Amino acid sequence: MACLFRRAIAEQVSQVLGLPPEKLIPHIHAIQVHRKQDSPDFQLYVNSVPGDHFNATSQVENALKLASKLARNSVISEIRTGRGSVTFRINRDLLTKTILRKINQDGSSFGMNSELLSNTSRGLTLVEYSSPNIAKKFHVGHLRSTIIGNFIANLKEAVGCKVIRMNYLGDWGFQFGLLGAGFNKYGCEEKLRANPLQHLFEVYVKVSATAEKDDDIKQSAQDFMQRLENGHPQALSLWTHFRDLSIEEYAKVYKRLGVRFDEYSGESFYTEKAQDILKLLKSKGMLKTTGDGKIVVDLSEQGDLSTHSTVMRSDGTALYITRDLAAAIDRMEKYTFDEMIYVTDKSQQTHFEHLFKILEILGKERVSKCQHVKFGRVQGMQTRRGDVIFLEDVLDEARSRMLQNMANSETSKTTEDPADTAEKIGIAALIVQDFKGPLFSDYQFQWDQALQSSGDTGVFLQYTHARLHSLLNLWETREKEEFDANCLQDPSVSSTLRHFLRYDEVIHKTLKELQPRYLVSYLMGLGHLANVAHRSLHVKGSSPDVAHARLLFFNSIRVVLANGMRLLGITPLDKM
Ligand code: ARG
Repeated sequence: MACLFRRAIAEQVSQVLGLPPEKLIPHIHAIQVHRKQDSPDFQLYVNSVPGDHFNATSQVENALKLASKLARNSVISEIRTGRGSVTFRINRDLLTKTILRKINQDGSSFGMNSELLSNTSRGLTLVEYSSPNIAKKFHVGHLRSTIIGNFIANLKEAVGCKVIRMNYLGDWGFQFGLLGAGFNKYGCEEKLRANPLQHLFEVYVKVSATAEKDDDIKQSAQDFMQRLENGHPQALSLWTHFRDLSIEEYAKVYKRLGVRFDEYSGESFYTEKAQDILKLLKSKGMLKTTGDGKIVVDLSEQGDLSTHSTVMRSDGTALYITRDLAAAIDRMEKYTFDEMIYVTDKSQQTHFEHLFKILEILGKERVSKCQHVKFGRVQGMQTRRGDVIFLEDVLDEARSRMLQNMANSETSKTTEDPADTAEKIGIAALIVQDFKGPLFSDYQFQWDQALQSSGDTGVFLQYTHARLHSLLNLWETREKEEFDANCLQDPSVSSTLRHFLRYDEVIHKTLKELQPRYLVSYLMGLGHLANVAHRSLHVKGSSPDVAHARLLFFNSIRVVLANGMRLLGITPLDKM
């Protein structure tokens, strides 16, 4: 569709310049819609054309020259020039028919087969995200990792990659020594079963506080850890118990959030393999000892340890990075992935730089396919209980605030399950708030701002979707694809069609940069266009043909909106 038009333009230009159309297609852009302004549909900047086809120094002249050699045809109804660009308008009737039909036929795959995405690799992508630490806080960083990773996985899947969604739990380390040592004293099996995450966290907090003052506890934590490392059955069974219950609990909350995993991996899988890594590093002569007794890999250019990564404690135990090395190599061997993406906050930037560097020194070529997607910090996300400790708290808070807003609003419809509706809106609000800016930036979180019903929020998207959905209840002949394009002559339709032309470009850019903000702002634009169209195109009281064409048009908006929302990780609501 957008492709069909880009191709038609490219073919015209190709005849003049002698360049294959494929080379031109990526430079033919759908023009962004500005409020109420009519404009052409596509533009080609002459300075973006590959090769040197133009001799005038002025791009304006070059554009004029190119335009003068191009001819209109059954697809292209108008050719003009902008500043340094040639602009094209597509035959209205054809544009309307092609796009609306395509959206109604393709449904959720709309835009995903675009020619712009033809160079996208569609192999096996492993996305590792969320990765909380058992018995510790599930902080806002983990929430960000969860929703960003989920979004990346959705997007990759949508363009045709096979995706493995992996959660790499912090399920090893001294916190388990403490838990093992402290559970007898502070733990309670009943409480553990009732609310595992909360109870483990409580025990952990208590026993760490005690261990600060009490050397006996510290010692028994170390002993417990030692037993765990040695695979002592009793210690292991307690550890497994904690881990299993925690995962069960996480899974419930992920489900509320609409997030899933194919695999729960974790640091614990790599305790032995981390020792193998140390042996390997040693055999390659890559281990050095620093003045303070740490065992490191030297990453400096000059070999003077000015940059290094600590991979072993003086007592021979492995560290976070050592387990990550083992995990990466294991995944390379097991999955031969085409791409692996780690999603964490930017405080781990150096960690991943070091990880990739060591893998490279070890000659692991697949490291060139590994990528760290990093994001900034969220400030001020508080719940009524205070700081965020559990993911559940954030979801509960979003839900209860949203329920309150719904109760205060006159336009809210009664839905069957208001709590569920509130939750889905609340989650949409969290996601949009988080995805609005560049991922790398820190931002200040405010509930009131995130939950506003107007403005660029997730609530607005949900509201727009629900409104379109209820309008479509009037549509009785959904299967009838034929419609009269003459019934859709309205500036609001024209703008929306032009906006649809940009969808694949936006997906392309979002995918290339792995930045959801492009998609978010596209959907906001679509939402506003939907509202404008809603005001000017009445369905009730129109003749059957007009009503049908308009409903088909509204359905197209709904489909594209829902597709985009789902990619972001939002479940579009039919009613609210
Ligand atoms: N559990 C870690 C944390 O909470 C994040 C793990 C990220 N993934 C990795 N392969 N290191 O900080």
